[in-house]
Amino acid sequence: MNILNNTISSFPDTRLRRNRNSDWSRRIVVENNVSADDLILPLFVQEGDNKKTEIDSMPSVQRLSVDLLLEKVSVASDSGIPAVALFPVVPLEKKSEDASEAYNSNNLTSKAVEAIKKDFPEIGVICDVALDPYTSHGQDGLVDDGKILNDETVDVLCKQAVCLAQAGADIVAPSDMMDGRVGQIRKALDSNEKKDVKILSYAAKYASCFYGPFRDAVGSAANLGSADKKTYQMDPANSDEALREVQLDISEGADMVMVKPGMPYLDIVRRVKDNFNIAVLAYQVSGEYAMLKAASQNGWLNEEQAMYESILAFKRAGASCVFTYGAIEIAKKLSKG
Ligand code: PBG
Repeated sequence: MNILNNTISSFPDTRLRRNRNSDWSRRIVVENNVSADDLILPLFVQEGDNKKTEIDSMPSVQRLSVDLLLEKVSVASDSGIPAVALFPVVPLEKKSEDASEAYNSNNLTSKAVEAIKKDFPEIGVICDVALDPYTSHGQDGLVDDGKILNDETVDVLCKQAVCLAQAGADIVAPSDMMDGRVGQIRKALDSNEKKDVKILSYAAKYASCFYGPFRDAVGSAANLGSADKKTYQMDPANSDEALREVQLDISEGADMVMVKPGMPYLDIVRRVKDNFNIAVLAYQVSGEYAMLKAASQNGWLNEEQAMYESILAFKRAGASCVFTYGAIEIAKKLSKG
């Protein structure tokens, strides 16, 4: 027998509004909460000193040089945010077909990681592992005759991951969607004395239009041109396939898994959470942020409430933590109460 039929009486004995009729009572029965611990702040880092450039499609988000990045990290840390995620804006002259800048131990990301870990050892630093910021064609992998090469790309990703770990990254986060990369990266980290560095696998990452503003921010949109990432990122029509991706990544040694984008994919977050005993993170991506911001700037949404409610929805779906460009604003709202 269905447990619901067995335990719920009906109106008028039951009135579900009774528990909702005062603030204290609503607080007693609340099922989910948001705290600063649930928020990870993605940051765009650029070369130079004292440089801050706005991103048109992402209001209130800037590309920051390392010195200014540190100020932002300080605010994040004071707001109780447990970790930041770094994304480099790589100048054109450092992009190449083979993405060799990705594993230059003196590259922009490595410098940013070193600077953050020196000044803020208590905050977690997450680094993306993918080649797109470094390739002249904007793809996440190496390309031969229009084809994205899997195994050759994985070799480069391993070098990139080791390089980031050596700079001090606490978590490496492969977001490239090549097959078999989690296991290879785990081996590479372990054989380079980095067995404690965690792998957050972007296990279910979809070929989504919601990454548009991000590609503007890191400058990969122009490189990518009219090409797409459909031969490696997942088809937005699929859901069972996400479970296979997650299963494989867990078997290869992923410590946490990510679903991305976030809000339009909360069904996937829930399915992953119900099927696996692992921390599921979700990414409220640039396009989702842009939508919330644009509507708020038009006066069509209350920004604070919309941002908060969106994160609460991630929690309800089963996410342990959310990457969001609004992390600092949300954490500040929480501390105000
Ligand atoms: C690159 C990467 C992307 C994002 C994070 N890492 C873009 C892409 O796959 O094209 C998107 C994040 C966002 O939209 O906020 N591998």
